Amino acid sequence: MKNKGILFLLLAIFLGACSGRKQNSSEQSAQSQIQSTENTKELSSMANHPGKKVYDSVCLVCHMADGAGIRGMHPPLAKTDWVNGDKERLIEITLNGMSGKIEVNGQTYNGLMPPHSHLSDKQIADVLTYVRQSFGNSASEITVEEVQKVRNK
Ligand code: HEC
Repeated sequence: MKNKGILFLLLAIFLGACSGRKQNSSEQSAQSQIQSTENTKELSSMANHPGKKVYDSVCLVCHMADGAGIRGMHPPLAKTDWVNGDKERLIEITLNGMSGKIEVNGQTYNGLMPPHSHLSDKQIADVLTYVRQSFGNSASEITVEEVQKVRNK
């Protein structure tokens, strides 16, 4: 009887220590995530947006994590007319890709962006909303219906 009580006590202490540690480490990782972002306020509010996952796995490789692109090669998504302007054109670029000479923020590009029509309407709406509200952009969101309309044109 006495042994059982001690065992139970040890178990309780052990479990308590575990859950305490778990909380600490998740707190720490959340904190370091916030600290590692440059534009803390803006990026932390979009950090959990579903469009971020799509962006990171599909667009980031060319347009970079901060949307700055690569000069002379991949244009930026930060503060461009293409991103913040006409929604239909932006959806079209994402669905069908883009090629030929264009000017983005005073710099000429003549590259090739592949089509992304394999993404779902929801994924495209999410990623474009994320892009329009990150990297210093603050344009309106893009809805699933708007993507559907352009896709079925
Ligand atoms: C393989 C590289 C690549 C990937 C992946 C890619 N892009 Fe692009 N993107 C480009 C290039 C290159 C251009 C410029 C095309 C040209 O010169 O005509 C461009 C142009 C653009 C433009 C118009 C110009 C500007 O910078 O505002 C937008 C908007 C855009 N991309 C958004 C996206 C989004 C959103 C994704 C992910 C769904 C994506 N791109 C994925 C390479 C890429």
